[in-house]
Amino acid sequence: MARPIIIDCDPGVDDAIALFLALAHPTELNILGITTVAGNVPLHYTSQNALKICALANRADIPVYAGCPRPLIRPLSTATDIHGATGLQGTELPEPIQPLRVQHAVAFLIETLQQAPEPVTLATLGPFTNLAVALIQAPQIADKIDTIIAMGGAITHGNITPAAEFNIYVDPHAAQVVFESGIPIKLITLDTTHQVLTTPKQLAAFRQLNTAIGHAAADLLAHYGTPEIERYGMQGAPLHDPCVIAYLLQPELFTFKDTYTTIDTISPENLGRTVIDWWGRTEQPPNAQVAASVDAAGIYKLLMESF
Ligand code: BDR
Ligand code: CA
Repeated sequence: MARPIIIDCDPGVDDAIALFLALAHPTELNILGITTVAGNVPLHYTSQNALKICALANRADIPVYAGCPRPLIRPLSTATDIHGATGLQGTELPEPIQPLRVQHAVAFLIETLQQAPEPVTLATLGPFTNLAVALIQAPQIADKIDTIIAMGGAITHGNITPAAEFNIYVDPHAAQVVFESGIPIKLITLDTTHQVLTTPKQLAAFRQLNTAIGHAAADLLAHYGTPEIERYGMQGAPLHDPCVIAYLLQPELFTFKDTYTTIDTISPENLGRTVIDWWGRTEQPPNAQVAASVDAAGIYKLLMESF
């Protein structure tokens, strides 16, 4: 039986790769909807990009709902240096086949979860704004969420500031709402995603697949993450968000550790930092499982098979 999931995202190049992966697995993942949020680029672009990704993947059957255009309290920070002005620099994807749904993403989340016959898994690839607003508006939906599998946070160093990872930094207050909700959370941090790097050899392999998705992935990734590659001295750009979908398809590629995790919403230097009690020093009950290891070669094998 396909697992019911909702993907909340801000495409974004690595979000696009994650969506291509998810859309290629209808027998394992029953995608009830894709919800978009402002993050890497403003909401108009993340929503149009999600529609274009569905069009290229021949999955215009998946409804796309636009959500919140800005974080709860802070102004929107974007990542156009990494993803380009429209979020998908490097290639022209086909125009959308289906229109954006009229319903707001938050209303869709609440209605779908309330009516779900079985708990639904949420895959979150961007800031937590939509989910936080849904939880504030309808806290009872927490019982209908099986798990939140999220890309976000850092055990060690941040990427947008020394302390914070981008998704959490953009809307730390929303992240706080989610981490205090009691919903089971699996968090895949930068410490893990920085091990999943797209080398030139891997790029060439995507291209050699000679499929529409293989070409699009190669074109997008060829232009993605250059500042990160230079900054961290990496071999290639990190595939953050695809880790979330890879976990859903092949959980054995990851290990996790139970932690008590809080979000810094106060300190100017540490705003948006995930304070992860790796060694249990606070003696607080765990509220998040944080990724401890990843099989990066296994993820690339999965991507190649899927594209
Ligand atoms: C996260 O930030 C975004 O730029 C990526 O899409 C990913 O979700 C990595 O910090
Ligand atoms: Ca993202």
